[in-house]
Amino acid sequence: MRLNRFLARAGIASRRKSDDLILNGSVIVNGLVVDELGYRVDPEFDIIEYSGHQISLPDTCEYFLLNKPEGYVVTRSDTHNRPTVFDLVEGQRLGTMPVGRLDMATTGLLVWTDDGELAHRLLHPRFLIDKVYEAIVRGVPSEGDLAKLRKGVYLDDGLTAPAEVEIVSSQGVGYRQTACVRLVIHEGRKRQVRRMLRYIGHPVRELRRVAFAGINLGDLIEGKTRGLNQMEIRNLRIQVGLG
Ligand code: URA
Repeated sequence: MRLNRFLARAGIASRRKSDDLILNGSVIVNGLVVDELGYRVDPEFDIIEYSGHQISLPDTCEYFLLNKPEGYVVTRSDTHNRPTVFDLVEGQRLGTMPVGRLDMATTGLLVWTDDGELAHRLLHPRFLIDKVYEAIVRGVPSEGDLAKLRKGVYLDDGLTAPAEVEIVSSQGVGYRQTACVRLVIHEGRKRQVRRMLRYIGHPVRELRRVAFAGINLGDLIEGKTRGLNQMEIRNLRIQVGLG
């Protein structure tokens, strides 16, 4: 990672102020002053000193989120040579992996980390992690349809757990009518949201995950990543009993 990022993550100064510290020769890497902006360090192997003290990261794991665009597969290497989400995170640390999956056509929030224990727990059904989706569906589901999803519906792989579901908006008229449906589920079965909405007769046209485990996608641009802040990381850990 870049030296200024390392200093910021270690709590020394903001990235911009860290650049000043680097430029004025206050930072030593492996015994030598480094005054080059953009210098990269490996926090596992390099010895970095500031103000006479060796500094280290408070947490050596990496945590970030990606706003996945449509058309990318969530796999490391695709047998059909399609673009993968790993193509979008090339600058990130090698061991980071997406926590869970989204279909190729689904967009939105994917959390990434190299904290294996946290990732494993976030995916474990025991912790009932919230996954929030917004789906554009054909037609407008009735209250009766929504009630079925709130109760649970029988799909090929069994009964779904009760979902929170509401209509956010609707557009168009007649056969062109569509609705935006917001769902909160805890499970992560294959194509689950698409299958649930098809079950009630309102197939999905577009699907986006807008939140995961209390982390919101916000206005992150599609295809971009952003690091999680300390509060978000802490909050994730608390939810799975690692706090
Ligand atoms: N449910 C789906 O149907 N697809 C996804 O990508 C995620 C949840």
